[in-house]
Amino acid sequence: MSERKARLSIDGKEGTIELPVYEGSTGPDVIDVRSLVNAGLFTYDPGFVSTAACDSDITYIDGDAGVLLHRGYPIEQLAEKSNFLEVCYLLLNGELPNASEADVFENEIRYHTMVDEQIHLFFKGFPRNAHPMAMLCGVVGALSAFYHDKLDIDNPEHRMQAAIRVIAKMPTLAAMCYKHGVGQPFMYPQNDMSLAENFIHMMFGTPCEPPKVNPIIAKAMDTLFLLHADHEQNASTSTVRLAGSTGSNPYACIASGIAALWGPAHGGANEAVLEMLYEIGDESRIEEFIVRAKDKDDPFRLMGFGHRVYKNYDPRATVIRGICKQVLDELGSDNDPLFRIARKLEKIALEDDYFIERKLFPNVDFYSGIILKAIGIPTSLFTVIFATGRTPGWIAHWHEMLSESYRIGRPRQLYKGHTKRDYPA
Ligand code: SDX
Repeated sequence: MSERKARLSIDGKEGTIELPVYEGSTGPDVIDVRSLVNAGLFTYDPGFVSTAACDSDITYIDGDAGVLLHRGYPIEQLAEKSNFLEVCYLLLNGELPNASEADVFENEIRYHTMVDEQIHLFFKGFPRNAHPMAMLCGVVGALSAFYHDKLDIDNPEHRMQAAIRVIAKMPTLAAMCYKHGVGQPFMYPQNDMSLAENFIHMMFGTPCEPPKVNPIIAKAMDTLFLLHADHEQNASTSTVRLAGSTGSNPYACIASGIAALWGPAHGGANEAVLEMLYEIGDESRIEEFIVRAKDKDDPFRLMGFGHRVYKNYDPRATVIRGICKQVLDELGSDNDPLFRIARKLEKIALEDDYFIERKLFPNVDFYSGIILKAIGIPTSLFTVIFATGRTPGWIAHWHEMLSESYRIGRPRQLYKGHTKRDYPA
């Protein structure tokens, strides 16, 4: 098929610029604008609403249809039939593992869950009330001090080793952030436990009694991690790619992703949803907050609603809502007032023209916090949970980018400042 072209002509400028058009295996076509700079032009797209920053085989989102595929597999099927480590393998390798590949991968992760004892000392420098995301950002960046000199990022085996290490250590570090805050001793990972069981054990276990992990809660935790595993070129993944494009240490790149995820417009929304539900406090006050969310003069947003890409239900939110009911039933808190407020808020918002016109639906963050709170995880740790789930996605995109030819990311700008002027005589 002949190469497709877009033709650009600009008022007042001679000639037409021809730009190649590419199509992916699915989703929107893209216009290759790289040659525009030769014509003295830039594209302009603050927030990258209409910009494909790279090509990728990992995750596909159809925002209008509410579709999320990881290497072609729908998230709903993975949530029902797969598990977090199998999805980590899928994101990294492109195919689901067979039984022996799954065993090997699980063992590789299992024997990298411990962190260097020196890392324990880093926590001693944090105030007890430090925000867990501040601690996580610091200690993950510090991993680059332990794995740097012998790490050749151009060697795919070294890249996969870094991926195994950071996926394996994130749950351990996440639990350490919690333990530091509550003044309890750090718990070591147990090699006879699954990743999610280990996380629950390292969070709530103590040296004073044998481990006891509720398998239903562990399964819910595993599925929550799975549902957060990757999401195309979101803000934090794009941050990891940009940092990685300079050749930075992969642990430092993941720390940059953690920093980007922290914001309430992104991964920090799950913490903000709980704070919002507490602030609403009662179903009778929901309308008051809906009015505030629609008021342009009020900075309040309905946290957990809306999405840059999804203009339909976030498929993850639907799965998480089901897990929410299951966990609350298991813990005997099926009449949880926050869950009641959340369900009522969702119903009212979805019948309100403002939200309907703007296609604002619940996103991945709307129900996840209610599950985490019911499990006993403090609100301040919610985004740390998100980061733990998102780590395989971040490192898979870093690995994919370095597996192909890539250039350092360096956007340009529309300059609106002073033109040249002389320093006063
Ligand atoms: C995540 O990118 C990803 O994939 C992210 C993520 C992932 O897995 O990595 O899915 C995870 O970050 C989910 C999103 C979590 N954030 C929140 O729940 C915070 C609340 N949501 C909003 O801040 C907002 O919806 C964003 C940030 C999510 C999306 O912002 P956009 O795409 O820039 O949309 P916008 O702000 O331009 O909103 C369009 C309109 C505006 O109104 P108008 O100017 O057209 O009149 O919708 C309004 C906004 O005011 N709007 C909201 C709203 N979200 C958008 N109004 C009230 N409450 C909201 N939540």
